Amino acid sequence: MLRTAIVGGSGYTGIELLRILKLHPRANVVAVTSRKYAGHSVGEVFPSLHGYNDLLFTEPDVSYLSKSAEWIFTAVPHKAAMSVVPQFLDAGLRVIDLSADFRLRDRRTYETWYQAHTAPEQLDKAVYGLPEIYRKDIAHAQLVANPGCYPTGAIIPLVPLLHSGIINSQGIIADSKSGASGAGRSLSLGTLYCEVNEGLKAYKVAEHRHMPEIEQELSVAAGKPVVITFTPHLVPMTRGILTTIYARLAREVSIGKVLVAIKEFYKDSPFVRVFPEGAFPDIFYVRGSNFCDIGAKIDRHTNTLVLVSAIDNLVKGASGQAVQNLNIMAGLEESLGLDTIPLCP
Ligand SMILES: NC(=O)c1ccc[n+]([C@@H]2O[C@H](COP(=O)([O-])OP(=O)(O)OC[C@H]3O[C@@H](n4cnc5c(N)ncnc54)[C@H](OP(=O)(O)O)[C@@H]3O)[C@@H](O)[C@H]2O)c1
Repeated sequence: MLRTAIVGGSGYTGIELLRILKLHPRANVVAVTSRKYAGHSVGEVFPSLHGYNDLLFTEPDVSYLSKSAEWIFTAVPHKAAMSVVPQFLDAGLRVIDLSADFRLRDRRTYETWYQAHTAPEQLDKAVYGLPEIYRKDIAHAQLVANPGCYPTGAIIPLVPLLHSGIINSQGIIADSKSGASGAGRSLSLGTLYCEVNEGLKAYKVAEHRHMPEIEQELSVAAGKPVVITFTPHLVPMTRGILTTIYARLAREVSIGKVLVAIKEFYKDSPFVRVFPEGAFPDIFYVRGSNFCDIGAKIDRHTNTLVLVSAIDNLVKGASGQAVQNLNIMAGLEESLGLDTIPLCP
């Protein structure tokens, strides 16, 4: 059994890790931290896990965790992650970090969008944890930087098409709608029920921190710098991200060929489902699962390819993807413990 610990287990990605790992046949959670709930049991804090997990939350004590576990999930906010991750690495543990702290390879880019980096020596050692693209590197990594939720939904559909030159690398527009769990479980005015329910708004227009992460990965796929227009929206729902992407076709191509190109690229990726012509994803079809669903249509009027992707932000956008990375790092089958059917409706 893989002995794992979760730092920041009382948040939304933490409870999702606890839920997924409870049913994982080859991994156990041996420690879980929360400063606020230290001393309380998991079932007390999360009644949905009552009877499934009798662990007590502990303080995030690195030396205790390093002695208890071999694998660490850091499910804490950015900045908090970079203050503990190097200590786990020094202790010889393997880490999957769910924060943004190690996703950007370029220190200056990180510091422009976030804050000063206190562990910059790890930036080029960390492997970007998108298994569909970096599976081979993830297998040997000591530190995996689990991708952001919006980037996962935007990068997966676009990479095969940039790679094959089917779409133009310039002028891409990604428009994403997310449920409120994307903002985490801590109290904030913007995600209170009355602020979200029956509303629908764009936020951080042209300045969301996931933009440089998406551009980093699209640039690798295109082999040249790619910049995008990215607009996130907050939708009155709990989980799910639907992303609609507009890209100019670089050459005359049929929708059938576009879909085949995406399908072929992901033929060994169990969690990417490409819909047949005329069918489009819905967050209902991925809820609670690790799938990334993709649909596409060509708007002949403007010669634009319209791509639509759907993920569950807490699963493929965070904790499911983190467990997928754990499986790859441990040499297990990639889908182990993740083979769940989405909750629809
Ligand atoms: N929510 C999503 O959809 C999503 C998707 C992809 C990635 N992420 C990323 O995953 C990470 C966790 O997100 P989340 O939504 O689960 O956040 P969250 O609900 O706010 O939970 C944060 C967790 O971190 C702990 N924590 C906070 N500050 C800490 C510190 N300084 N030291 C140690 N523990 C600390 C909190 O517990 P205590 O304060 O009690 O210690 C809590 O358990 C974030 O970096 C986020 O950006 C989230």
